[in-house]
Amino acid sequence: MIKNLIIASSIAVGGTLLSSCGGNKDMVKQDFEVAEKQYTIMLDQSKDLTSFPRTTNPDGSVKGTDIWDWTQGFFPGALWYIYEFNQDPKWKAEAEKWTDALEQAKFLTQHHDVGFVMYCSYGNAVRLEKDTAKINKYNKILIQSAESALTRYYPNVGLIKSWNDKMSWDGKTLWTYPVIIDNMMNLELLFYVSKLTGDPKYKDAAISHADKTMKNHFRSDYSTYHVVDYDAKTGEVLHQQTNQGYSDNSTWSRGQGWAIYGYTLMYRETKDPKYLEHAKKVADFFINHPNLPKDKIPYWDFNVEQEGYTPDWDYKGQNKLNYIPRDASAASLAASAMLELSTYTGEEGKKYFNAAEEILKSLSGTEYLAAPGTNSGFILKHSTGSFPHNSEIDVPLIYADYYFLEALLRYKKIKG
Ligand code: GLY
Repeated sequence: MIKNLIIASSIAVGGTLLSSCGGNKDMVKQDFEVAEKQYTIMLDQSKDLTSFPRTTNPDGSVKGTDIWDWTQGFFPGALWYIYEFNQDPKWKAEAEKWTDALEQAKFLTQHHDVGFVMYCSYGNAVRLEKDTAKINKYNKILIQSAESALTRYYPNVGLIKSWNDKMSWDGKTLWTYPVIIDNMMNLELLFYVSKLTGDPKYKDAAISHADKTMKNHFRSDYSTYHVVDYDAKTGEVLHQQTNQGYSDNSTWSRGQGWAIYGYTLMYRETKDPKYLEHAKKVADFFINHPNLPKDKIPYWDFNVEQEGYTPDWDYKGQNKLNYIPRDASAASLAASAMLELSTYTGEEGKKYFNAAEEILKSLSGTEYLAAPGTNSGFILKHSTGSFPHNSEIDVPLIYADYYFLEALLRYKKIKG
């Protein structure tokens, strides 16, 4: 707990950058200026169109990913957001080039992430493109991507299966139909393709997935289990556990963020008030949590080192740090989701807008926002990919950047 306080107080000054950076300079403009400088560096060092920037290697070089992972859509998506902000054709050309390089991922069926990959890239491309021929090409790719997503939807279970067979941390459970909370992010693609084709099968699957997830992935306080494993024949819940969180009963911060985002988008797409109520409760858990640091950038899990939470993996043996790392990616995606949520919730929306604004101010501070020319070209510092896997701890992550830019654009739009 003392460790928590030390890191919290050392980072809590993040929100002061606006004054340290010239007083009344507009936050969104300032952050996009940094983004342009950083991604100019990123583009200079990323010439191989089969390697999509994801994070840094220990030597500071950029670590890329191929088209079959889950993060490859975020770099093209971030380029589209920069173009959306500055309307500079140079950025559009880069966005198109990196988006086109992803095309074969429309056949990604070995895990659930095809929605993330293709909607963050091609979804933004189709939204911002004016050329009909290109729009038609992008739409065909999105339709195939949705077909790929549906190969993992088994009607008797009514959910999209996230991963193939996988062992849990305690080594006792073989998950055979694991569904993770992150999977909510794949649903946006399905709604889009139903609208595009007039075929309801995509959105029907999304609604079934969201309903079952709402029932089985949440505790009574609206915190999330990371993984729910189902019986592939009956659809019965077999296990509620974690994969990237601290313990089975803890709340992995990014998972909670995915849930806020997922149920907000469900409300946007269906206008069913039950999703709105759910999104609010899930967001309330995040913003009211006693362990959320003052600057509102969460630790990688809300319950790290807390009494009553016991990992099934060797936390003590593995932990080499004398502080609990934050996860700026959880913060940026939660901010983006809460900004959208604030637009659906009238007076109450101020609560979500204010929380998101505080997060954005923290992320715009020197503690999190890279000084131009540093951070290997990434925009944000201090994200955590998977602590239990000893992977990507307190590093830049491409999806933190992506949702940060998205949140800034949403913030600008709301502020007018
Ligand atoms: N969707 C994987 C993650 O959030 O780490």
